[in-house]
Amino acid sequence: MKIMVVGGGGREHAIIKKIKLNKNVSEIFALPGNGGMAKDATCVDIGAKDIPAIVEFALSNKIDYAIVAPDDPLVLGAVDALEEKGIPCFGPRACAAIIEGSKVFSKNLMKKYNIPTAQYEVFDDMEKAIKYLETAPIPTVVKADGLALGKGVIIAETRKEAIDAVKSMMQDKAFGKSGETIVIEEFLTGPEVSVLAFTDGKTVVPMVSSMDHKRIGDNDAGLNTGGMGTVAPNPYYTAEIADVCMKTIFVPTIEAMNKEGRTFKGCLYFGLMLTQNGPKVIEYNCRFGDPETQVVLPLLETDLLTVMQAVTNETLADTEVKFSDKSACCVIMASKGYPTDYEKGFEMDIPDEIADNVYVAGAKLDGEKLLTNGGRVLGATAIASTLDEAIKASYSLVSRIKFDNAYYRRDIGAKALRAMED
Ligand code: AMP
Ligand code: GLY
Repeated sequence: MKIMVVGGGGREHAIIKKIKLNKNVSEIFALPGNGGMAKDATCVDIGAKDIPAIVEFALSNKIDYAIVAPDDPLVLGAVDALEEKGIPCFGPRACAAIIEGSKVFSKNLMKKYNIPTAQYEVFDDMEKAIKYLETAPIPTVVKADGLALGKGVIIAETRKEAIDAVKSMMQDKAFGKSGETIVIEEFLTGPEVSVLAFTDGKTVVPMVSSMDHKRIGDNDAGLNTGGMGTVAPNPYYTAEIADVCMKTIFVPTIEAMNKEGRTFKGCLYFGLMLTQNGPKVIEYNCRFGDPETQVVLPLLETDLLTVMQAVTNETLADTEVKFSDKSACCVIMASKGYPTDYEKGFEMDIPDEIADNVYVAGAKLDGEKLLTNGGRVLGATAIASTLDEAIKASYSLVSRIKFDNAYYRRDIGAKALRAMED
């Protein structure tokens, strides 16, 4: 089978490494991929948002199965376009990907179907939003409606910060069209959990839970990033909480999407906050999380392609999906200065013996040399019987990977370990 994976980061590398294990797979193409995954897939210089070129490539290369991983092409309808040409795909159609593509859509969906989430108001008029903020409870959370590269959420500690956030989105158009409509919502507190779930629209199968570390600095200091490391499972997510989530969030969401005529097939990501009033949805993503995938998929014991095809064929109920009961930790190595300014082009050295544990996100080939080519450069994942061992083993991997100006957090998993001691 010839497989095409749309996307080019560490998440896609983790998907590719798993897909490669299936004996029926003869070739994997990554569009665009990156130089760091060239040993695992054939990288093709087609951007993940260039849907006509993606479809053309799939047809001319007789692709048997396509996996669309990032949010943009999903929201733009890559799956619809590929399916129209008869290419089976993993990923939701645009009408379902809107669950991530529009926060207004997802908030209204949750309200309509009584799925627990933060209280909120929607505004498309800046003056009204500012007026509302004069009396709204503080802190508050201001969110751009549309996709904003993970930067469209501002937690405002003061009224002024909230008003500034509204102005930057609605007046200065910091996120373009994505910020023309905004959501202002209640600030919630509690541990965060990421749960990715396979669903074919009939059955929902949650994967092992995970914990992201979004801030750039140790002890969650500094700016938000695309994610600086992950651990799985997330110790806050007990079997009892998982049961509550299944009944009050996962199944109701799948049913709600069906009732709206927007059946969701693919990987649905539930960003949850475990509040004192029970688990609530912070966000939905229409795809695998990054870097959650880099700890979740290594723990998957069943064949990923088989599970994905079962999602496509709507036979998930009859398909085994088994996760190891071990723990995993992924430490992201970034370029110093990320998430703002950073330099690229430093030569990377990843020893061959540990290459299987490394998921490359931002690198390019220059002849034989691999050079850094992004803010987040790679993730190193280790699996072990306990979380403590997995953390130590992933930092040991990191210590063997070399490139100039490398930066990484030293405390990935520390909070999870503390939670286990409590
Ligand atoms: P998002 O881009 O939706 O993932 O939001 C980024 C981060 O903002 C989340 O991971 C949370 O840490 C935080 N966040 C979003 N919404 C809320 C909320 N209502 N209350 C508290 N924190 C929030
Ligand atoms: N790790 C968060 C995300 O993928 O959106």
